[in-house]
Order: sequence, then C-alpha cells, then structure tokens
Amino acid sequence: MAYMEDEQNEDYLFKIVLIGDSAVGKSNLLARFARDEFYPNSKSTIGVEFQTQKMNISGKEIKAQIWDTAGQERFRAVTSAYYRGAVGALVVYDISRRQTFESVTRWLNELQTHSDMNVVTILVGNKSDIKDAREVTTGEGKALAEAQGLFFIETSALASSNVAAAFETVVREIF
Ligand code: GTP
Ligand code: MG
Repeated sequence: MAYMEDEQNEDYLFKIVLIGDSAVGKSNLLARFARDEFYPNSKSTIGVEFQTQKMNISGKEIKAQIWDTAGQERFRAVTSAYYRGAVGALVVYDISRRQTFESVTRWLNELQTHSDMNVVTILVGNKSDIKDAREVTTGEGKALAEAQGLFFIETSALASSNVAAAFETVVREIF
C-alpha cells in the first residue's frame, strides 16, 4: 500500500493531483469538495495550490492532500515537483468542450512520465449540469476510461453532483 506517514499521528496522508486543460473546473471541484464553495467567475490558477481534506474511509481517518495547478502551460509550476509522491489523480475535462476531452491522452502521458508509482486515476467529465451544449457523450467518456484502465465519473462542481464521489473513488482504491 502506498502512503505517506503523517508526522503527527498514525493517519494516512494521500497526495492527489488534479490535472486537465484550463477552465475545465479543477479549482472549483476542489473548492466544492473541500469547502462546499463554487465560484462562477473564477480566475485561472497561477502556480500550485493545495488543500488537505479529511475523509473517513471504512472507519479510518484519511487526509487527502489535493494539489491543483494551472491547465495553462505558462502558469504552471515545475511539473515534476507537482507529480512527486502523488498516489491518486483526477484527469478532468469539460463535457461541453470536446477539445478538453481530446487533451486527456496528453495529460495521461504527462502523468505517466512524471509520477514515480502506479497512480490511481479517475477520468472526470465535469460540467454535467450543462445539458444543451454537451459535446462529449457519457459513452465516449466511459469508453476512453475503459481503454485506458481508468475509473470514470461525470461531475458538476456547480450543481454539487458526484464531486465527493470522484475524490472518494480514488481514495478508496488507494486505501
Ligand atoms: P485553470 O486554473 O485555468 O487550469 O482552470 P480550472 O480547471 O481550475 O477551472 P475553474 O475551476 O477555474 O473553472 C473555470 C470556469 O468554469 C469558471 O467560470 C467556473 O465557474 C466554471 N465551472 C467550473 N465547474 C463548473 C461546473 O461544474 N459547471 C459549470 N456550468 N461551470 C463550471
Ligand atoms: Mg484552476
């Protein structure tokens, strides 16, 4: 089992990274999960931010340290440091922008190149609240996830749909 010892006690601390194109909703997924907040006009992330969220899995307290960085190359911090020690990843695309779905394989390649262990990965189709402008079907998302051996879920940070489930799927599997 891959884990990092917490210095304070016997709890588990898992590093999880959020990746995907700019504006797919990575920061809002984290804001919804960690603080139950949503920002309709959030700005691009600059550099790296992380938040630690306590979770209870099978009666054990687990801390998920969730890292968030910019989808835009020019705002990103040193890539290898971002991925170092990560045991879980959410690869996020926006179901209303096909281009962000097409970028997924590039993000998976980057993850594989920079991560030093087998990272539990879930493919996340975010913005499922958008009904009239969907460009990627649920079936397409599922098919890609299956082909790549990933978990799959559609979420909405706006509607607070499946957000906790996305993080919990990863943490459960790591644990
Ligand atoms: P970068 O930091 O640039 O990589 O972008 P990001 O992936 O962190 O995206 P961010 O969370 O900043 O969200 C981008 C935009 O999408 C914002 O205007 C959000 O309000 C909006 N957004 C995020 N999640 C959702 C969602 O589930 N539904 C809808 N409709 N909009 C969303
Ligand atoms: Mg962001």
